[in-house]
Amino acid sequence: MTKSNSPFTVIRNLRQLTTPVTNGKPYLRGREMRNIETVDNAAIVINSDTIEWIGRDTDVPDQYTDDANIIDGNGLVALPGFVDMHTHMVFGATREEEFAMRCSGATYQEIAAKGGGINNTVRTTREADKSRLRKQTMRFLDKMIRHGTTTVEIKSGYGLSEKDEVKMLDVINMVKEDHLINIVSTFLGAHAIPPEYKEHREEYVDLVCKKMIPYVAKKNLTGFCDVFCENGFFTLEESRRILQTGIEHRLAPKIHADELSPLGGSELAIEVNAISADHLEHISDKAIEMFAKSDVIAGMLPGVSFYLGHDYAPARKLIDAGAIVALATDFNPGSCVSYSVPLMMTMACTQMKMTPEETLTAATINAAAALNMSRIVGSIEEGKQADIVFLQMPNYMYLPYHFGENHVAAVMKSGTWLEYR
Ligand code: NIG
Ligand code: FE
Repeated sequence: MTKSNSPFTVIRNLRQLTTPVTNGKPYLRGREMRNIETVDNAAIVINSDTIEWIGRDTDVPDQYTDDANIIDGNGLVALPGFVDMHTHMVFGATREEEFAMRCSGATYQEIAAKGGGINNTVRTTREADKSRLRKQTMRFLDKMIRHGTTTVEIKSGYGLSEKDEVKMLDVINMVKEDHLINIVSTFLGAHAIPPEYKEHREEYVDLVCKKMIPYVAKKNLTGFCDVFCENGFFTLEESRRILQTGIEHRLAPKIHADELSPLGGSELAIEVNAISADHLEHISDKAIEMFAKSDVIAGMLPGVSFYLGHDYAPARKLIDAGAIVALATDFNPGSCVSYSVPLMMTMACTQMKMTPEETLTAATINAAAALNMSRIVGSIEEGKQADIVFLQMPNYMYLPYHFGENHVAAVMKSGTWLEYR
């Protein structure tokens, strides 16, 4: 890069630039999800942290090149930075012993019923202090950006006490200050019933509704409230109460719905007008039609189905019906130990029959919409934050095609150039 006083950085000589085209919309639904634009031999002009101009390399206006910082794109392919709209990446310790048990036939539910699963991570997360959790999370974030993720949502939910849920949100807000990645926090106090409330669960739901939600909202620790609506976790009635209490405190509702059984969390998501409903492996046909007519975003998490050996959510049916579909890793120590969005794109293509174009839209603009961020990120369009991933590959379709390899050669995050070769 040549140093200059120009406010512009020009990235030239890109083999291809591919982005969803929004025409100002916050998300793309149904067939629109294939609306992507590809520019061959492209260039991008950045003004400080914002995208100023995109087009063919031969068409870059002189006003941008005079005295500008020029970066050689080296024939890389540019895509919007990935938005991982669902993770649980703050946790005390990993759970490889449970993985081994599952390999020998134990199910996720059996392990959870014996005090493992989420409550195993609750134990280790309660023991960990903020500084250790912060350090580990910063390391994960460094790896995630290396895989092309430039915006990530992180949930609490391994504290499950007033003190430890606030500790988790504090850690998320600390890394938000310290890391280049855009970070969005979600309160998930209703992730599981903690062991000390096993025999009187209604008291825990009371604690979440009467103490935790009012406190995290008043202190501005988050803007979202999530619940794990599932047999053995939170009932439909409890989930409704928790999400409605969140709404009363201006926390936008999110939900883990119909993951292990068809409990009706999808219908509840429509009822409370959730910003997103994630998992949906057992969504009913009726709820699919309801999603198609609503603005609730359907978050697909194929990494969980792959990792637990469960059924995949009906992404194809949802898109064909006209729903807004997003894609995320659900990175957590139990049900998906991967923060690779491209790997999720491969699974979405091969297991859910989404097209490469749909997976790109799902992992960028639609995922950004699930975080209320799509006005700022999620596509390479003029005026958006300069969050762009540069990959060593022949074209955008190659990304889900060649899996298990990290093709990311460089990332521009809010105008900062990070090179990895
Ligand atoms: O999204 N479904 C609930 N929660 C996580 C799993 C978390 C864990 O096992 O620690 C999920 O899959
Ligand atoms: Fe989750």
